[in-house]
Amino acid sequence: MKTEKLHLVWAHPRTDSFTAQVVREMQDQAAQQGITVSNLDLYSSNFDPVLAAHDEPDWNNPKKQYSEDIHRLYAAIEESDTIVMVFPVWWFSFPAMMKGYLDRVWTNGLAYGEGSSLKGKKFRYVALVGGTESGFGKYGWENHMRDYVVRMMNYLTVEDTRIDFLYNTLGMEEEISASHYQQLLAQARGIVTALQS
Ligand SMILES: Cc1cc2nc3c(=O)[nH]c(=O)nc-3n(C[C@H](O)[C@H](O)[C@H](O)COP(=O)(O)O)c2cc1C
Repeated sequence: MKTEKLHLVWAHPRTDSFTAQVVREMQDQAAQQGITVSNLDLYSSNFDPVLAAHDEPDWNNPKKQYSEDIHRLYAAIEESDTIVMVFPVWWFSFPAMMKGYLDRVWTNGLAYGEGSSLKGKKFRYVALVGGTESGFGKYGWENHMRDYVVRMMNYLTVEDTRIDFLYNTLGMEEEISASHYQQLLAQARGIVTALQS
C-alpha cells in the first residue's frame, strides 16, 4: 500500500533543533511525492502528556469518552494511512512528551481493545541518537529499542512498522563534518521515499 496520507508526530522543545529540521525535510519530501501531510508538533501545540485520573481507561467500557484532545488527536491517526514519529533519543527511549502521547492518545477502545482501528496502517519511528552507531549497538540499545517498538506495534495489531536511527547527532564521541548532517537529512528523506515502494 502506497502512502497517501501521512501524519507526522514529533517532539522537541525547540523548532530550530536538528529534530525539527529532520521533520521539515521529511515533510518536504512527502509533498514532492504528492503525499498529504498533517503535522503534530507536541511541544508547540501545548500537548499535555500527563495521564490524569479522568482519562484512565475503564477496562469494562471500550466506548469511554476521554478528554476532547485525546479524541481529536486520535482522529488524526484514523484519517491517515501512515504515521511517522520523530524524536530525539532521551535516556534510550522517547522524550516524556512523546511517551505521554502514547499513554494518553493510544488508549483503550481507540488504539487497542474493542474498536481499535490501527490494523493495516504503517508506522515509522525516526530516532535521533546523540551517540555513535557502534556505541549504541555495542551496548545493545539499538536492538532493545527496535524490539520494544516493534513488539508494541505488534500488540496494537500493526505489522508494517520499523524504526530508523539517525546516529551521531552531537559529534561528541566521534568527530563529524558538516556533510554528516546532510547525510542524516538524506537518510530521513529516504525513509519517506521508501513509503512509496
Ligand atoms: C535528556 C536527554 C537525554 C539523552 N539521552 C541520550 C541517550 O540515552 N543516548 C544518546 O545517544 N543520546 C542521548 N541524548 C542526546 C540526544 O539524543 C541528542 O541531543 C539529539 O539526538 C540531538 O538532536 P537535537 O539537536 O534535535 O536535540 C540525550 C539528550 C538529552 C537532552
